[in-house]
Amino acid sequence: MIKFATSKNKRKMDEIIIEDKVFVPYIDYSRISKAIDDVAVKINDDFKSRKDVPLLLCVLNGSIMFTGELMQRLEFPCELTSIRLSSYEGTTSTGVTKKIMGLTCDITGRTVIIIEDIVDTGRTIVDLKTLLTKAGAGEVKVCTLLLKPDVYKQSVKLDYVAMEIDNKFIVGHGLDYNQLGRNYKDIYILK
Ligand code: IMP
Ligand code: MG
Repeated sequence: MIKFATSKNKRKMDEIIIEDKVFVPYIDYSRISKAIDDVAVKINDDFKSRKDVPLLLCVLNGSIMFTGELMQRLEFPCELTSIRLSSYEGTTSTGVTKKIMGLTCDITGRTVIIIEDIVDTGRTIVDLKTLLTKAGAGEVKVCTLLLKPDVYKQSVKLDYVAMEIDNKFIVGHGLDYNQLGRNYKDIYILK
């Protein structure tokens, strides 16, 4: 797992402005890509010799880019479905996970791998695990591109974590500020 410290990651990319906020370069795409390579190796090791076909659950909207990149690296039969949740307003968690779009397929008895963009307070992941268990999922695994370890205090096991970051607000590679900034390939941090 790759760890990033805020001060050590000065890049030549330019700062960006989204609405009222300035963001500076934090993690460039080459590092993101390498972290996804590494996490995919672990998932492949765990799933390559299994007989069941896992269902990848993309947590929209933030995970859309990560899910696409991760899937290209998986070397076993897998299916894809999505759910849409929302808990952030501006740069802070509201503490309430809103379900914008629910499950669209039967997950009874299925092995589900949750694909998250970032785990922060962990409320989303806790609520999602409860939802999946109630819907009859067999086994539930959690995979996240990013983790803020200083904030996460929940007991749900995070099976696959690509990168750990500081407790700062970030955008890019799928993550947004007021729905903007998801399109950047690199990750930027609030100045
Ligand atoms: P949690 O429920 O507090 O773990 O937050 C999870 C969700 O909040 C993530 O899936 C993101 O969509 C959003 N989120 C958390 N931290 C950030 C951030 O730094 N930038 C953008 N979105 C974030
Ligand atoms: Mg998310």
